[in-house]
Amino acid sequence: MTDYSLVCSQLSSLLEGSRRPLSAMANCAALLWQSLEDLNWAGFYLLSGDTLCLGPFQGKPACTEIRVGRGVCGTCVRTGEIQVVPDVHQFPGHIACDSASRSEIVLPLRAGDRLVGVMDIDSPSLNRFSEADRLGLEELCAILMTEADWDRGLI
Ligand code: SME
Repeated sequence: MTDYSLVCSQLSSLLEGSRRPLSAMANCAALLWQSLEDLNWAGFYLLSGDTLCLGPFQGKPACTEIRVGRGVCGTCVRTGEIQVVPDVHQFPGHIACDSASRSEIVLPLRAGDRLVGVMDIDSPSLNRFSEADRLGLEELCAILMTEADWDRGLI
């Protein structure tokens, strides 16, 4: 079980040092990687026009561009809703960047009412992401989006 209150406070502390969104996402990906068990990928895609572009992450190299509406990430942007996918093989249009992935969670990142990208986390286990993970990650994204300075651009 992940101690999300600890992870959230760690991200908050890191954001006291720098509020640059790129640095914050890089450290957030590292925090996810060291704090959550049973992952094979954790990171960010950032929205440019109608394309999600690969951002900071941990794990194997991944696809660099995903169109809005495509895959789990693009569906998250199209719907604006968190996507919890217990079995990626059952998700129509799932994009397999790493064939080891079996389940996935994707959360929208909003700076005010502007959707700037998604947090994407993959696991090699089926049904890895619980309601507790969903709530904890929602809180982590809220910290990233309110405590980093998104008005300045990425750096
Ligand atoms: N599986 C994602 C693609 C990104 S990778 O998991 C890193 C999707 O279907 O959108």
